[in-house]
Amino acid sequence: MCGIVGYIGKGNALSTIIGGLEALEYRGYDSAGIAYVLNQDIHIIKKQGRIESLKNAIDFSLAPSIGIGHTRWATHGEPSERNAHPHACGKFVIVHNGIIENYQELKKELEEKGYRMVSDTDTEIACALLDYLYQEDKDIIRVLTKVQDKLRGSYAFAILCYDQPDIIYAMRNQSPLIVAVSENDKYIASDVPAILEHTNEYYLLENGDIAMLKQNSLSFYHDGLEISKEKLVFEGSKEASQKDGYPHFMLKEIHEQPKVVHDTIAFYFDGTLESLDKNLPPLDKYRNIHIVACGSAYHAGLVAKTLMEEVAEIPVTCEIASEYRYKNVFYDEKTLVIVISQSGETADTLASLRKAKEDHIDTLAIVNVVGSSIAREADQVLYIKAGCEIAVATTKAYSAQIAILSLLALKLAYIRGKINRQSLLELQQEIETLPDKITELLQRQDYLRIAEKIYQRDDIFYLGRKIDYAISMEGALKLKEISYINSVSYPAGELKHGTISLVEEGTPVIGIITDSLVLEKTISNLKETSARGSHIILITNEPDKNMGDTIVIPKIHPLLQPLLTIIPLQLLAYEIARLRGCDIDKPRNLAKSVTVE
Ligand code: F6R
Repeated sequence: MCGIVGYIGKGNALSTIIGGLEALEYRGYDSAGIAYVLNQDIHIIKKQGRIESLKNAIDFSLAPSIGIGHTRWATHGEPSERNAHPHACGKFVIVHNGIIENYQELKKELEEKGYRMVSDTDTEIACALLDYLYQEDKDIIRVLTKVQDKLRGSYAFAILCYDQPDIIYAMRNQSPLIVAVSENDKYIASDVPAILEHTNEYYLLENGDIAMLKQNSLSFYHDGLEISKEKLVFEGSKEASQKDGYPHFMLKEIHEQPKVVHDTIAFYFDGTLESLDKNLPPLDKYRNIHIVACGSAYHAGLVAKTLMEEVAEIPVTCEIASEYRYKNVFYDEKTLVIVISQSGETADTLASLRKAKEDHIDTLAIVNVVGSSIAREADQVLYIKAGCEIAVATTKAYSAQIAILSLLALKLAYIRGKINRQSLLELQQEIETLPDKITELLQRQDYLRIAEKIYQRDDIFYLGRKIDYAISMEGALKLKEISYINSVSYPAGELKHGTISLVEEGTPVIGIITDSLVLEKTISNLKETSARGSHIILITNEPDKNMGDTIVIPKIHPLLQPLLTIIPLQLLAYEIARLRGCDIDKPRNLAKSVTVE
């Protein structure tokens, strides 16, 4: 949701900032811009479209030593050069990630004071506000503190001032921002991948923090007072953000799943009750669970709901965070609210977490990005071991989320007397076979063959019951987000109540059957569609069931089965999108980290 990079140091600000923006392009990519200081003056270049267009417009030989850059995911105003960042107003030039909620009223006030905006953005309003307050007080730290009081909403800003062209200011509220340091240089970035080329040492700005970066000094302020901050070290590798020979990050990340699933499970569970006790939070007191998340993380929650209800026999509510945060929620001290988020920054999930905390309900976060807002604010956090995920469409993080959630279901099942120690050991034996089973599924040749038959269709339906319905939701989302095919998932028994009218000759219907209890029922539903001409693709762990194009996956313990079922769905989506020539790692209109409502 917009990427910010700033640089001040002894190197070339232009190439450093562009390199950083490229690493952050997953956050948004409808326009990009840069502002740099040369001969004490600030120069701005902006382009609509990808960073590549901006790059082509830059003369890198100028080699300035200070600048700020931005890659945008439009919120206010269409994607265009005019609305691209940086925005300039009066004495200031700024880049922004987030949404200023009271920008309309501020705009009115500022226009009454004579400001004329040239863009449709909320960012320009913030810049004008800054300029206006600066006219009354030339102490920029004090002015930024006043700006914080006046702005409502989320923001991370990097700021240049014409009067102080050798300083970068940065501040944040609700949108992530780090300040990184190497021997001679300092950086600002929305996320760690932007700086890994140069350093792994950084400071995390908290809400309300202001940073002042000069060639020879770095200072932090909060509430107008100088503060000291702890320097952090990022432990992940730079290689993790490269493609390792795969044509797309998404494919690379799909292929990382045997390791990610293994690492995630092995970190928390070794087949013993003691490991569950030591590594997972105490769950004894809870009588019901609320799971709250968005998108794929919500789909992982739906899988967990089914597993927890089936295996541990505990009631689970799974809600989309943007709904949960505004609705009447019924919970008490015996409820555990679990929020799931790869990025740890998703605005609605964060707001839901805060709502539960305000109501004094216990919260547990399942997060990938270490130190992210959700990870820091939840009462307890369990990190998935997915590593840095670059492709906008999540794959390995989804699987890792399911892996941890399955362990939580397992612990709940033990506590509630639904399984015994022996079952834990048996499960552990199955867990040991899991990476090889995933690898075997990754190596199958079926996906391209099937994709070639259906990639030109406009609509594709996914059907399943219970856990298979939950997984089909993610299969359909994967396909639609990267291939732009209208793909929808239905509980298999529901199709005939309306949607079956959309099935016509050749419509692909992907059926998922891994739960033998509902096997025959789902088969009947699939037959209802094939009687109307559908092209059935069946994904099942029942080797003797054959319908249309069938992909047989290995049968494994129900707690682990979703980790196999999802693989063909991810690879089918990938192959279809590739055949359609789509931009797989950066699908249109999307962003990796959704820090706005
Ligand atoms: C889809 C996808 C999104 C995210 C959703 C939540 O492939 O990645 O649906 O799952 O935006 O993001 P996080 O997990 O960062 O909270």
